[in-house]
Amino acid sequence: MHYLLYTSQALIPDTPAEHDAILQSCHRNNAAAGLTGFLVREGGHFIQYLEGPEAAIRATLNRIACDPRHTGLRVLCEGGLDAKRLPDWQMGFGDTAVVPLSEVLTLPAPGAPLEIDDPFDLIVFMVANSSALRELASAA
Ligand SMILES: Cc1cc2nc3c(=O)[nH]c(=O)nc-3n(C[C@H](O)[C@H](O)[C@H](O)COP(=O)(O)O)c2cc1C
Repeated sequence: MHYLLYTSQALIPDTPAEHDAILQSCHRNNAAAGLTGFLVREGGHFIQYLEGPEAAIRATLNRIACDPRHTGLRVLCEGGLDAKRLPDWQMGFGDTAVVPLSEVLTLPAPGAPLEIDDPFDLIVFMVANSSALRELASAA
């Protein structure tokens, strides 16, 4: 079992319709690949946490990295896991309103990369806030 956290700069408007299109892909592909995680939109940034079999994470990340809806994908941290942290989350989604990352991050100007001192703190914070996240499976 493996986990990976990345950030990227969003190139699409911050609207539910845009995010739902991404979440539909997650819905289609992640369960079959054994992946769970969550995606956060924070202003001009995406932050996504993925966990599952390492090969499935790599294959999915290769697709995501080529997606024109964002740019500048940067892996913040990754590693091995004994057990999933979010086994029931096909792909949670939240924005600033539900996951107030500004509490733990200094947010840069739009277009500038997100600087994160300790990515692991971010995972802990997101998992702690995950009950506030909207889950696609329950909305679909
Ligand atoms: C920020 C972001 C996160 C994404 N996360 C996932 C994901 O977790 N799983 C996935 O299959 N596709 C994800 N996608 C979409 C992929 O880039 C790609 O469009 C999709 O996997 C293609 O599969 P489909 O034809 O079934 O939609 C994401 C895209 C973006 C922009």
